[in-house]
Amino acid sequence: MIPQPTAQQALPDETFTLQPDATIGIADSSAQPIADRFAAQLRRSTGFELPVQEGTGTITLSTDGAESLGAEGYELRADASGVTVTAATTEGLFRGVTTLRQLLPAKAEANSEQEGPWEIAGTTISDFPRYGYRGVMLDVSRHFFTLDQVKHFIDLVSLYKINRLHLHLSDDQGWRIQVDSWPRLTEYGGSLQVGGGTGGYYTKTEYAELVQYAAEHYITVVPEIDTPGHTNAALASYPELNKGDQAPELYTETEVGFSSFAIDKDVTYEFLDDVFREVAEQTPGELLHLGGDEAHSTPHSEYLAFVPQAAELVVKHGKRVMGWHEIADGSLPAGTVVQYWGTEDPKAQVLAQKAVEQGATLVLSPANRAYLDMKYHEETPLGLQWAGLVSVEQSYSWNPATLVPNVPASAIDGVEAPLWTETLDDLEKVEFMTFPRLPGIAELGWSQESALDWTTYRDRLAEQGPRWEVLGVNFYRSPEIDWR
Ligand code: ACM
Repeated sequence: MIPQPTAQQALPDETFTLQPDATIGIADSSAQPIADRFAAQLRRSTGFELPVQEGTGTITLSTDGAESLGAEGYELRADASGVTVTAATTEGLFRGVTTLRQLLPAKAEANSEQEGPWEIAGTTISDFPRYGYRGVMLDVSRHFFTLDQVKHFIDLVSLYKINRLHLHLSDDQGWRIQVDSWPRLTEYGGSLQVGGGTGGYYTKTEYAELVQYAAEHYITVVPEIDTPGHTNAALASYPELNKGDQAPELYTETEVGFSSFAIDKDVTYEFLDDVFREVAEQTPGELLHLGGDEAHSTPHSEYLAFVPQAAELVVKHGKRVMGWHEIADGSLPAGTVVQYWGTEDPKAQVLAQKAVEQGATLVLSPANRAYLDMKYHEETPLGLQWAGLVSVEQSYSWNPATLVPNVPASAIDGVEAPLWTETLDDLEKVEFMTFPRLPGIAELGWSQESALDWTTYRDRLAEQGPRWEVLGVNFYRSPEIDWR
């Protein structure tokens, strides 16, 4: 199982077998959507009717208990008489059902009827996460991914108890979210992508559907509008945002660090006020990410003046600021979350420490560990390698509590695995870079420190292979793993 639960015990003489007359019981109606979704999947693969009913069932889902395990915690028991999943919240129940899916045979994930038996070895589990932030980032700017593609990505990452989806919605190559007050951002700024092909963007209706779909998987969307660099798409759409009022051409290559908003113009902040307002209106989550990375074309003194002004606009619209670690060089509003993307670079570590000294918390995305777009090895046909080659072991074998020196464990909110898409233009390529590394980052975010061990993780990861085969996931069959 991945992530490894906090506590699990075998019930050696017990086996649960799902029979054709099985039922799914819900203790109260709040569990109905979770039960319906779970039942729908099991009906497809087992061919059983699996009615969802009030009260107890063969499998009972309850939100009345396990209070001590927190909002995402749950208890699960499978024995010869049935299965119960109990949590204090629907979120915890969802995480518990995610575990139940992994306890069932891999073919339970199939979309056509399969042969049983549908057995679970008797077990009791008591589980809760180490960290509250367990994220994945998808760069939809370098290459655009449609609503349906992002939904499929959500389906897959939610299997590993990921609870944040950071969407990198703007960059030099494309602006991907509708902003009514600045319509050329999408009409023009979203029209292309890396390589010069047709880009795209999410209308407000589509974006709302995406946020809702993520919420149904207990995933909160963290939207990112990258500033003041990585802004060519916006600069190309509106000349007034440029120093000198001259709009550049749209950009479809993959250099970084050449674009910057005009820091000393009022219109820049009027623009950000509108953009952050409209994005915040579509964001039920607390965080709005303002980027702040690689502003190599913004003079540093101007950068230091810009960040607090941009941050204030995020706060004005009711959101907490999130940003890449460079933003910690200036003063940050209370409640800021700083995303560390350094390697072992002391300059990046100093910025992370500076963030924590100001009271910010950290989400850890070390590029040489957690970046899903780094090549696995020299010959990997996709991806980049500026942060090094990132094998499955390299991505798993680190400790979030000690990654950045001189930072207290209490300052770590969690981990995130970013997937940049300069070289990735379809979902198969996204899957190839995401699997099998994402489950390891998800485990670093969920499982207790004492459970983290590469040797046993390798074996558990091997067991995921048959699931991905059933699900049609184009995963990289790394020779580090003895795939089944
Ligand atoms: C980054 O990789 N530029 C955050």
